[in-house]
Amino acid sequence: MKQGLRGTVKINMYVYEEVIDSIVQEIKRVTGQEVNASEISEPPDSSMGDFSTNIAFSIAKKQGKDPAKVAQELSEELKPRMVDQVTPQGPYINFKVKKKEYTSRALQEAVQEGYGGRESKEENITIDYSHPNIAKPFHIGHLRSTVIGEAIANLNEKIGYRVIRINHLGDWGTQFGKLITAYKEWGDPKELEETPIEHLNELYVKFHEEEKLNPELSDEARRNFKKLEEGNQEQLELWEKIRELSIEKFKETYKRLGIKFDTYKGESHYARTGESEKMVKEALEKEVAQIDLDGSIVVNLEKHGMTNCLIKKRDGSTLYSTRDLAAAKDRWKEYRFKKNIYVVRSAQTLHFKQIFKTLELLGYTWSNRCIHVPFGSLNMPEGAMSTRKGNIVELEQLLNEAQGRVLKLIEEKNPQLENKGEVADEVGKAAIKFNDLSQNRVKDIEFNWERALNFEGDTGPYLQYSHARATGIIEEVSEEAQGKDPAQELNSKEEQEMIKKISEFPRTLKNSAEKNEPHILAQHLLELTHAFNTFYRKHSVKYAETKELKSAILKLVQAFKNTLAEGLKVLGITPLEEM
Ligand code: ARG
Repeated sequence: MKQGLRGTVKINMYVYEEVIDSIVQEIKRVTGQEVNASEISEPPDSSMGDFSTNIAFSIAKKQGKDPAKVAQELSEELKPRMVDQVTPQGPYINFKVKKKEYTSRALQEAVQEGYGGRESKEENITIDYSHPNIAKPFHIGHLRSTVIGEAIANLNEKIGYRVIRINHLGDWGTQFGKLITAYKEWGDPKELEETPIEHLNELYVKFHEEEKLNPELSDEARRNFKKLEEGNQEQLELWEKIRELSIEKFKETYKRLGIKFDTYKGESHYARTGESEKMVKEALEKEVAQIDLDGSIVVNLEKHGMTNCLIKKRDGSTLYSTRDLAAAKDRWKEYRFKKNIYVVRSAQTLHFKQIFKTLELLGYTWSNRCIHVPFGSLNMPEGAMSTRKGNIVELEQLLNEAQGRVLKLIEEKNPQLENKGEVADEVGKAAIKFNDLSQNRVKDIEFNWERALNFEGDTGPYLQYSHARATGIIEEVSEEAQGKDPAQELNSKEEQEMIKKISEFPRTLKNSAEKNEPHILAQHLLELTHAFNTFYRKHSVKYAETKELKSAILKLVQAFKNTLAEGLKVLGITPLEEM
């Protein structure tokens, strides 16, 4: 066991994994067979044992024997560490762990700060997420990417990677020609400073209305964008101001959400430095791209079952795609990533397939480290928000609405609570985040306040509430229950179920990270918490018969609380002590 900075525990193999590893080693020693840890699972019923494997099938097949016979023979020879009993059951082999030893190790690990963390791998993972477009409201269209991206970033950090959080801003394109034109016509510097996004959005809308009546404006917008591309002072200054003010505004929301990006290097960087242009040249030179009849430049991907990827328009400008090619190359150069992850809605699946394929055709072997993590849409039903401007829901509004609704609940349930406003904000954010993270990522989701805020349902507030309840129990009994080896007393089914969920936590984190599926972790936290609540309903903690038992239960509740807290933090949710 290694203590990292601030006493945070970082272990490469936790007890649950150690048992599995030992079983794997034993099978190899006895049979000479290499088995994968994933071939060790759990029996359907815990009364059969704690671990199980069907490895006898494949061994029997190779040797032309009966699987049940092999299972029986192996059961006699396998002697894994920390395992008490090895029993054949038909073709299966079940393992029962030494309860006392296992429990004591599991609890000892689980109460440490940073539980589930791994030693640093000194490898980089870049994650591209959130990426709103500047001069536009930060609306709920970006919520899922922001929430899922942050969870995936935290997961990877937790299992030992160095994570680089990238906000690939939509900060370039012809729309800025329009915006500059509109600002020059109708803009107000004071309004721009005070309410930048609102003002810019109004200007943008106005531009489109006026453009219909006055087509001259479109030409002017094109001219202004051209000037911007050429680095003309006036246009550039205005664009820079817009960018700066937008980022400042976005940062307020990120702060509220507890998110910090390492870089805001967005599309403009690749357009302005000429890196996109260079990409086009390289693709032509390597004969990956061709000049089309109309003068545009495309990468032909027909052979690979995809439509062509346009990388330069007829008028000579580069595109979103070109900038993504350049950005990927730039990230590789700077970070030598182990993985380069893009958390972007499903609608862009083809785009990323084209980008990754093009990189491969350009000869970049690291293209297979690029991963698109898609997700479905978030639908806000009519009437879900009391304040609505146009038909877009801004993220800030959504957070305020959540906070307001939670505050009302607190006034009903616990009016004496301190820092009600703050707690309400934390619970509101938890509701919104967990609603997203607990569902299947690729599915479209329908937002529903009653469901997201239900303290008794499978929600963020339910987890926070259970965490607060555990905190209360610990405070209540900790003085009376000290010392003694706790493990010996925790024999009930409910206690054993909790220990199981607690000790599986590190492996779940890893699994969730490797699959880019925060929902695996979210579901585990729900199961863990259900186990705690079932236990709590059945066993009185305060009136435990013996001091030993009280002390054992205390340790169990502490382990639960810490596991849940570590898991919630990874999902970007604040564990609360009281609510
Ligand atoms: N700003 C883009 C949008 O709102 C998403 C950018 C995703 N990241 C990327 N590297 N393409 O659609």
